[in-house]
Amino acid sequence: MDGSHTLYLVEADEHYHSTYGAVQESQHVFIQEGFERCHGREINVLEIGFGTGLNCYLTLLASIKSDQIVRYYAVEKFPLPAEIWNKLNYSTFSADGHSNRFAILHNAEWNCYTEIYPKFSLHKMEADILQTNIFDLPSVDLVFFDAFSPEKQPELWSRSVFEPIYSIMKEGSILVTYCAKGYVRRMLQSIGFQVERIPGPPGKREMLRAEK
Ligand SMILES: C[S@@+](CC[C@H](N)C(=O)[O-])C[C@H]1O[C@@H](n2cnc3c(N)ncnc32)[C@H](O)[C@@H]1O
Repeated sequence: MDGSHTLYLVEADEHYHSTYGAVQESQHVFIQEGFERCHGREINVLEIGFGTGLNCYLTLLASIKSDQIVRYYAVEKFPLPAEIWNKLNYSTFSADGHSNRFAILHNAEWNCYTEIYPKFSLHKMEADILQTNIFDLPSVDLVFFDAFSPEKQPELWSRSVFEPIYSIMKEGSILVTYCAKGYVRRMLQSIGFQVERIPGPPGKREMLRAEK
């Protein structure tokens, strides 16, 4: 446990992050195994499920450290209201004076570009990934696939969602997800990804990293 909050969605009986620690999980799956493997000067990131904004916030902090230019695109069907996100304690995990940027990325308008930091722009799309035309996006270097679990949202872990994502990914780009299910791995392979099962964050044995 790292002391960071984890949202729980009662209707779905589902957590937004690991109960072992949201920051720890997000840092491991998306930053360590995803962002830190992208060495280009400019990186386009696509996130499926913006949710609490934690992955976005940690990416912002990591990009400030690495001095990379990031354009972050995030799809979210159910944006969280301010009375929920402003109770989350994620900004207290930033030691380097950027804690105010958690609120800035939440307050950024939906469906347009916002500069959050000189080298970090955010485009949050309020949309259902099942109905979104992602072909309008520029090609991406990194995908954070962070939908609710396949048990809760099987329709999101389907070829019809991953094929369009694959087609807008650059050669050599990667997709990371906390999920390590065999059928998800096989589906990704059948689309053309090279998939690795790698150690997951505390409390989760494995996760997937897929390369195009
Ligand atoms: C596991 S949570 C996301 C966690 C998020 N990345 C974060 O850091 O807090 C899954 C997210 O996917 C969103 N979602 C569910 N169905 C969706 C859909 N059809 N299209 C886009 N987003 C969806 C949920 O509202 C939720 O915010």
